Amino acid sequence: MIFFADLIHQVIVNVSSMNNIISFDKVSGILVCEAGCILENLISFLDNQGFIMPLDLGAKGSCQIGGNVSTNAGGLRLVRYGSLHENVLGLEAVLANGDVLDMLGTLRKDNTGYDLKHLFIGSEGSLGIVTKVSILTPPKLSSVNIAFLACNDYSSCQKLLMEAKRKLGEILSAFEFLDTEAMNLVLHQFDGVRNPLPASMHNFYILIETTGSDESYNREKLEAFLLSSMEDGLISDGVLAQDINQASSFWRIREGVPEALMKAGAVYKYDLSLPVEKMYDLVDDMRIRLGDMAKVVGYGHLGDGNLHLNVSAPEYDDKILEQIEPYVYEWTSKHRGSISAEHGLGLMKANKIYYSKSAETVQTMASIKKLLDPNGILNPYKVLPHSLNS
Ligand code: LAC
Ligand code: ZN
Repeated sequence: MIFFADLIHQVIVNVSSMNNIISFDKVSGILVCEAGCILENLISFLDNQGFIMPLDLGAKGSCQIGGNVSTNAGGLRLVRYGSLHENVLGLEAVLANGDVLDMLGTLRKDNTGYDLKHLFIGSEGSLGIVTKVSILTPPKLSSVNIAFLACNDYSSCQKLLMEAKRKLGEILSAFEFLDTEAMNLVLHQFDGVRNPLPASMHNFYILIETTGSDESYNREKLEAFLLSSMEDGLISDGVLAQDINQASSFWRIREGVPEALMKAGAVYKYDLSLPVEKMYDLVDDMRIRLGDMAKVVGYGHLGDGNLHLNVSAPEYDDKILEQIEPYVYEWTSKHRGSISAEHGLGLMKANKIYYSKSAETVQTMASIKKLLDPNGILNPYKVLPHSLNS
């Protein structure tokens, strides 16, 4: 007897060995490659060509581009380059019946009928297996600056974001945040990491990255922005990276948060899109609900309205879970947020889809699933609720 899981595994193994770059066009910046290419290898390849990937994330050393596309991975530069729905120009996918859909176009504009590639971006392999992709990559710009800032309250973080969009708009390439709980965890879990702003205890930390073509223009712009933000009382302290080592140490803090949480013990993870002005109220509410039972950590991609709300405890405990769910989903739904901003629904959150999508929308998704995968062999039990998932 062959189990579905075995079949899926065989396909995954085959995709992993598909790791060739098929072509790169230096004029257009369009990269065509196989789905098993490791993201970090693509980043290095493009770097040598004078281009960058529009996607960057902490897991770059192990994740594959096919998986990134299938999950529509968000990452750290989405605020500048948009999601993979914007950057993927084409793809090849294998359907459940073995048909190969060749949609590996490299055109910016193509309005000939339905743009089916989007069905395979973010559907977590439930409609077909992505085997090749073509991606529009931006040119590498010579000047990158990174600032690590502290804010006293969440309202200042929000105002800082608005100001950054207005004053740094064309060069802003990341706007990330972490709260003091997240910072403490990182400092506690990793020996070599230190807080670049240790003078006093701050409530929030913001990492701003700017990317542009003229070093003195960009540096001056960022310095002027920091000065005016300081004068307006939006930031309580801040430091600009002086070299690449300092820049990577700032990123290490932000990128280290999920790893630090895993090291700290049990972690309940929520990946939410919420209106920026409401976002941190949920973290505060959750702290009140949980009291001493667990630590509540808030961090994420503030520039994208994406909060990673994580609850950390020494051990998993049903009493903790009862305080979190369904409260967190109801709260998100009430504010018309998304219960999965960038990590997908997978198995654990498939049944929660109705908190973010209407019954009619979910039914239409189920009809598409039925059409493309009538026997439910592709990533079974994921994405759609169990009642509709064969
Ligand atoms: C991050 C991952 C968890 O933002 O999405 O660090
Ligand atoms: Zn994230």
